[in-house]
Formats: sequence, C-alpha cells, structure tokens
Amino acid sequence: MSNKKFYVTTPIYYVTARPHLGSLYSTVLADVCARWNKLQGKKTFFLTGTDEHGQKVAQAAKEAGKEPKVFVDSFIDVYKKIWRDYELSYNDFIRTTDSRHEDAVQAWIKKVQKTGDIYKAYYEGWYCIHCEAYLTETDYDRSLTYKPDQGPACPLCKRPTSFTSEEAYFFKLSAYQDKLLKFYKENPDFITPRERFQEVISFVKAGLKDLSISRTTVKWGIPFPNDPSHTCYVWVDALINYISAIGYGQSNKKKEFDFWWPADLHILGKDIVRFHAVYWPAFLMSANLKLPKQLLVHGWITICGKKMSKSLANIVDPEILYEKYGAEPIRYYLLRQIPVTQDGDFCLEDLEQRITSDLANDLGNLVNRMLMLAQKNNVSTIAVQTNWSEAALKLREEAWNMIDDVEKYMEDYLFHMALARIWKFIAHVNAYFHAQEPWKLAKKDLGQFIEVLSATCHSLHTIAFLLWPTMPSKMEELISALGFSFDVEHNIITNLKLNRWTEEFKLTFIPALFEKVILESKEKQGSRECTQQGSAKEQESTIPIDVAAQIELRVGTIENCEEIPKSDKLLKLTVNFGPKGVRTVLAGVKKWYQPDDLIGKQAVFIYNLKPRKMLGMESHGMMLFAESEKGRLEYITPTTSVPDGTKLR
Ligand code: MSP
Repeated sequence: MSNKKFYVTTPIYYVTARPHLGSLYSTVLADVCARWNKLQGKKTFFLTGTDEHGQKVAQAAKEAGKEPKVFVDSFIDVYKKIWRDYELSYNDFIRTTDSRHEDAVQAWIKKVQKTGDIYKAYYEGWYCIHCEAYLTETDYDRSLTYKPDQGPACPLCKRPTSFTSEEAYFFKLSAYQDKLLKFYKENPDFITPRERFQEVISFVKAGLKDLSISRTTVKWGIPFPNDPSHTCYVWVDALINYISAIGYGQSNKKKEFDFWWPADLHILGKDIVRFHAVYWPAFLMSANLKLPKQLLVHGWITICGKKMSKSLANIVDPEILYEKYGAEPIRYYLLRQIPVTQDGDFCLEDLEQRITSDLANDLGNLVNRMLMLAQKNNVSTIAVQTNWSEAALKLREEAWNMIDDVEKYMEDYLFHMALARIWKFIAHVNAYFHAQEPWKLAKKDLGQFIEVLSATCHSLHTIAFLLWPTMPSKMEELISALGFSFDVEHNIITNLKLNRWTEEFKLTFIPALFEKVILESKEKQGSRECTQQGSAKEQESTIPIDVAAQIELRVGTIENCEEIPKSDKLLKLTVNFGPKGVRTVLAGVKKWYQPDDLIGKQAVFIYNLKPRKMLGMESHGMMLFAESEKGRLEYITPTTSVPDGTKLR
C-alpha cells in the first residue's frame, strides 16, 4: 500500500431520533469516497459519529422524560446497527460526549485564548425562555419594532420572546475575513459545487461579525475551561470532532494526528455549508492548524418534493428499506439516481425500476447467463487467451475507455455519471455476448466459445472492481465467482488499466446476484410504507367506508396499446373514458399481453389515482387485474358492455 492517505468525514448527526434516509445518504457518500480511494491504494480513514450536546438534544431528552446522556446513549446502537447493515466501513465513530472529544474541545479553547482570539462580552438578542434559545436574524422581520418583553414569536413554540442580554465568550471571527478570502482565492477547488463556493465568498465579503461561542443558558454542553458556568456553543463543539477523533489535544497521539490531518474531504449537506466553509477554517487558522482540503456539499433527499421532517410524517427509515430491498440496491439507487450536488426525490417506483432493470436484468442476468453456460458445458477454468478476435479487442478497448471515464467522473464526485458510464459498458458486454451466440459456439467451436467466456469474464472483472465502492459485498461475491480474491493492498485502478486481458479465471456458480422486484404489487403500496410513521407494522388491515369511497373505479375502452421499447414490463394504453376523456395509462403486463390482445377491450381502472411518471411518461390511472393461480394477470371486464366512463359502485 502506498504512503498516500485519504481522510474523509461525514457530519456528525444530532441524536434526537433514529437515523433517517438523509443521514444515511451523507454516510453512504463518505463510504463510497473512502472505498474509491482504497482502490487507488491509499491508506484511508473514514470518520462518522454523533453530535450529542446542545439545546436541541436537551429539549428532545426532556420531552422523552430522560436524562440527556441516557437519551443519547439509547440511539447509538441503532446508528451502529444501521451503518453496519449498509456496509458503511467507518474507522471511527466519534461521540461528542466522549472524554477524548471533550478534552480536545477544551484544548482548542485554551489554545485560541492564548492566541488572543477569544474575549468576554455581552450577547444580546430575542430569547425564548420556553425553548431556551435565541432567535437568529432570519427568524424574524427586522423591519418591525417590538416591545422588550413582547418580542417576535419563537419559530419553534410560537410564544413571544423577550430581549435578553447575557455574558458570553466571543471568537474574533471578524479578524478572519481577509484571511478567509485569500484562502478561497488560493484554493479554487475548496468547495464543490462552485455555486455553493460563490455563496460562501459573497457571505464573507459582506462582512463577518464576531461569534458568540459560549452559553450560560445551556447546561448540556462542554464546560468552558476555568469558567464552568459557560458551556461551549454546540457548533464549536461539533466541528472539533474532525480533529478530536484523530488525536488532537492528546500528547500520545501526535504522530497519528500529524499523519491524518488535514482532512482530505468533509462531506456535508447544503444546510450546513457556512459552519464548515467559514467558521471551521477560521477556528483552525486561529489554532495554527492546517485547513481541510475540500468540502463536498450534497443536496437534500426530498419526499414528493418536500424535505423529510417529523411534522410532515415523511421520514424514510433506512432500516425498513434495508429489510425490504437489502443494502446494496439502496446504495446503488442513491448514487445513480441523484446527482450529488442537487436535491433528489426519493421514489419507490424508481428504486424498484432500477433494481429490476439495471441490477437484476442488465448486470445480474449477464453474470448468470455466462456462469450457467460455462457450467452447462463443464467449463470451470478459462485459460489465458493469446489471440483475441476483433470483436473481443473492441470490447477490451471499450473497457479501457470506460475505466478512464469512470476515474474522471469519480474524481469530480459525479457518481451518477460514473455509474451510467459503467452501465453503458454493461450494455456493450451484453450486446457482445448476445451477438457471439456462445450457446451455439459451445457445440461447434470450443476455442471461440472459451474466448467469448474469457472476454466476458475480463469485462465483469473490471466492472466488479469499479462497482465495489457502491456495492461492496455483491461485487466481492462476483470477484470470487470469477476465481479472484479481493485485495486492496495495491492500486487496483492502475492495475485494471494496465491489465492486457491476460487473466485466467476459475469459475464458481453463484445464485442470482440481484432479485427482481415485482413492480405491480409494490407500486400500489406507495412510498409511505418506508416512512417511520407509515411502517407496515403499524398499518391497520381494514379501512373505513369513507376511505373506500374515495377510490373512484371506472370502466374504459382500450383504444390503443403500444409496447415501450425501453421496458420489458410496461405497455402504454390509450383509454377512452367516454365523457370523462381519454387518458394514457401504463400497465406492467407486457409479459402476458400483446398489444392486440387488449386493443378494443373494456377494462376497469382506478380513475382518480394521482398521475405518476414512469420512464419519463405520465401514467394517469391504474388498470386492475386479478392474479390467476399460475401467476398470470387477468384483466377485469364487465360481463356485458357498458358506456365508457361508467363508475363502479
Ligand atoms: N449536527 C450537525 C452537523 C455537525 S457537523 C460538525 C447537523 N446534524 S443533522 O443531523 O441535522 O444533519 C446531518 C447531515 O444530514 C447534514 O449534512 C444534513 O444536510 C444531512 N441531512 C439531513 N436531512 C437530509 C435530507 N433530507 N437529505 C440529505 N441530507 C440531509 O446538522
């Protein structure tokens, strides 16, 4: 392994509840970055953890009727279990209540006090006694005037606030404005994406105020050195986790600290950029420490366009998703579906489509067909090939081009593009395999047959390594089915590029890598099923009559029916509902019906279903079927023809 290192961090999560899909997302991104760097032979350190102090946590503990420490302790095993289930290979899990962290925070304060960047003054503002919190400037309308004892309403509890002044320690953030701007100028890649960097620069240029970094009103926090009536402001406490975990402030860990610091990459969501891009570098400059090399700012995962929140009851629980789909399909979906720097809507139908078409069909079937064919023809060792045919050489060229492209995309954190590029290559391999018709070659030209298997194995070998950061255990399974063991001691990416296709393969048959998801049955269940509040476990099995009455069923005539080339399941129906109009409805029944079987037929549809997008097309309504004993879907039609648009009662 080389001496190069890569230190990556996630934000530390507030432990007011179980982890949700948003927390999983940040952590998956960090895991993928850590694994990608491991493939390059670097020593990696991946840090995650929990942010356990401050008003928010204290308040949540109070509501739960628990002491703060007992309350936060109760979530740690849940975090660790879910992170383990999702194969998140973190090296350390820091908790801000760890004594090593508390010592580091105090060490930083002492150091900065010596520098002269901390002073005591008065903090003034609108304070909510009930929530024990100051309002920020964005919380109220500054153009309005308020009475001192009847200030703007608290955004949390809506009670009036009062003007309060308390003694606090301040950090001289204003002294760092020019230094920060100089640093940004000298490090134009400090923040990805660029738009976020521009926002930060504008914010700093507008002027920085000194920052209050202690509270006397918040008891649940790290005491200030030599002044325990003050606790450290939670964001100072939290940011220091990035150095406390690797030994800052511990004399016996100096070597370790010097090796890992500065961090190569901090991963964070777009809501916490200012803390990482402005405060954190200033805190580090003040303590005479190096600055992190890069920040990757990701977007939010939304549900039907809205950020997940308790009040909207739309929080997606990663544990429920894991039980239903497994870790790796979820990891794949998050990376493939959502460009990292943008917001992306989480949609179960898209997830299931990706699992079925990308994972089970495109990749899983290819592996399965190749292994089955080899097994059927009693081939388990595929010898080194010396003379490749033109078709195989073209495929090899394509594989090399893909590695270069994937490398570039990964370096720019364009994970979705990297995966799309790998899938483009998978399509080439499928086309090659199909065009060579190896099942025929097996009978007439054994040499050529082996060449096709070898070219396919070489392609899969490359694919498996490049996909390892995204789907580690499935790809290790594939690598071992090809007769290799997984070893990240060397620079695997360089080795893949140097590989002239001179490998011997020893094949072992493995069961299907990915299972298809039956779209029809799942679609009906909707996204709610994976939200904590909508967990299947909590659902009642009966519905009241008024809920049943909300479902509008109508008869329509299928006037036209077309196959959708990109889909092996969906048919596109044009349905006439008489006076209610003509609509497009997509139905996943290509397996059982040709278009001609349905054209001209009357059938029953859920008419008032919210339109949904599938494969870029809008489906407005759902055709109903009954599943026969043999698993075939039979459409439902009135025994005698009725006017189109007739409502079912
Ligand atoms: N404790 C602070 C971070 C301190 S880091 C020194 C915090 N915690 S948090 O739990 O509220 O958020 C942690 C991370 O999760 C943030 O990067 C945030 O952007 C991310 N997410 C929270 N909800 C999210 C989504 N719905 N989607 C994607 N990520 C989101 O902030």
